[in-house]
Amino acid sequence: MSNVYESSHPLVKHKLTILRDKNTKPKKFRELIREIAILLAYEATQDLTLKIVPIETPIVATQGYTLEEPIGLVPVLRAGLGMVEGVWEMMPGSEVWHIGLFRDERTLKPVEYYNKLPVSPTVQVCIVLDPMLATGGSAKATIDILKRWGAKRIKFMGIIAAPEGLRTLQDAHPDVDIHVAVIDEKLNENGYIVPGLGDAGDRQFGTA
Ligand code: PRP
Ligand code: URA
Repeated sequence: MSNVYESSHPLVKHKLTILRDKNTKPKKFRELIREIAILLAYEATQDLTLKIVPIETPIVATQGYTLEEPIGLVPVLRAGLGMVEGVWEMMPGSEVWHIGLFRDERTLKPVEYYNKLPVSPTVQVCIVLDPMLATGGSAKATIDILKRWGAKRIKFMGIIAAPEGLRTLQDAHPDVDIHVAVIDEKLNENGYIVPGLGDAGDRQFGTA
């Protein structure tokens, strides 16, 4: 079964509290999504492999490290867009592959509308970015797509997860580690996370 990592970092908890607040405006909301994503990326990338490289400092020749495997950041449109920029700044050598999915409001099932992945994989490690893991349908569908593409190692990074979504994702993809800021209580009758933060896409883009 995959590992689920829930952040215990005080900065994450502090920022998440402001993020959840219904009075937080889109500009601040986007800043917080970006900042929390960077903090989570620090935790989610602890096991990336390194290779030793020779370097010269102004003083002496020595050796250092560089990331060994090509990394793909996979933001799920729309809400995952807010997570990608900050993480990309931390790993500027990464490729960014967008996947477009929306959740049908009636069935709560994901509908794919954008995918420009090339024929064969160009990266070794994929980090899926989507702030909300609710029923888990969108995350499962995204990872299905990446596995069909041939991605070998996949991690999921989100901000708020519902227990239902965690179970769905773990059952479907037990090899995918899941990193989230927090695991909330439940889903409500409309498939929204409780207490949650509402609609992450609408709150970022001011479309509520
Ligand atoms: C949200 C969120 C996830 C999905 C989670 O996207 O960003 O992709 O819902 O729900 P699930 O776990 O039940 O599938 P949404 O469909 O609202 O699209 P948007 O990002 O374009 O607003
Ligand atoms: N998508 C969101 O943006 N929020 C939820 O609570 C559930 C799905």
